[in-house]
Amino acid sequence: MAYGIYAGLIHAQSMRDEEAGVRPISEANTRERCERLAEAREKLLATPEDEWARGIVAKASQRPDLFTLPQKAASNSSRPAKEAYEAFASIYDDFNYRNDYEMWFGVLLPELEKRGLKKGRLLDVGCGTGRAFEPMLRRGWQIQGSDISTAMLVEAERKFGDAVALDAADAAELPVYGEFELVWALNDVVNYLTGDGDLERALRGMRVNLAADGMVLFDSNSLGLFESDFTGGNSEGMSVGEWTWRGLSDAAVAGAIHEAEVSGAGVETHVHRARHYTPEEIREAMAAAGLGYVVALGQTEEDGQVVLVDPPDEQRDHKIVYIGRAA
Ligand SMILES: C[S@@+](CC[C@H](N)C(=O)[O-])C[C@H]1O[C@@H](n2cnc3c(N)ncnc32)[C@H](O)[C@@H]1O
Repeated sequence: MAYGIYAGLIHAQSMRDEEAGVRPISEANTRERCERLAEAREKLLATPEDEWARGIVAKASQRPDLFTLPQKAASNSSRPAKEAYEAFASIYDDFNYRNDYEMWFGVLLPELEKRGLKKGRLLDVGCGTGRAFEPMLRRGWQIQGSDISTAMLVEAERKFGDAVALDAADAAELPVYGEFELVWALNDVVNYLTGDGDLERALRGMRVNLAADGMVLFDSNSLGLFESDFTGGNSEGMSVGEWTWRGLSDAAVAGAIHEAEVSGAGVETHVHRARHYTPEEIREAMAAAGLGYVVALGQTEEDGQVVLVDPPDEQRDHKIVYIGRAA
């Protein structure tokens, strides 16, 4: 019975697809559509009135499934992050209670605004439990969140219900959700992209979702942070109450993958695998993804306040914040 209904739905969808002149989903023709979409986005940046390009972009935002490549063969590289966050979700908000997003955005948003950010739609890649949502909803943004971990998304949905659109997706295979004035990946998301090429794939997906004058922002952990939090056993700075964060790697190595273990009450013991990216690797990935490099700022804390410093320093700063826009 259930199968009959399901088959009926598929049939109805393919009838609609036929009427709309789209071919059924297959890897070859999806790849072709993605290429056409990339071409259309390029064209729209140069000639916003181009009808052909507008049509393709509009269709892509109505039917993201048709313009999203199927799982990449090497998607195993995303599995450790998914597994870690399926476990970590149960304590994520309590573990990170010290992170004050309102304070953080009080320094991040002015950096974007002075470089031309316009208020509108936000795509939050690796949104997790939605720590960024409340401050951005309060500022009048419309939000699409996306994350690889369904447990994190369930928590976000419990807190925000219909106020935010949510979708489960790998950042390295991001669907086309629409056109966004701001696309960001906050708080180490890019460090969880450990496979070769995953960073470039994710940045390309972020770029494809940009409105013509949209901006991209993401942060990446510094080598100094990998040294303090991913090496040398228990990290006092990261452990919280009854939960222990334990660095498992021998040394912090530029460009390498590092590991840390989380354990304690109410959480299944699990391992975080995170890759350090050198500023040069990030610049190259941005360029390859068609993103113009606007600025990199070092993020540190002084007297409990978040401070952004130009130029960044891999030892002094905890994170480096990168800002880009469509090249
Ligand atoms: C440290 S959390 C940050 C969550 C949220 N941005 C915040 O600021 O609280 C990292 C997030 O990245 C997500 N993540 C890791 N790898 C991912 C991938 N390949 N695709 C999408 N999300 C990913 C995790 O599931 C997790 O929610």
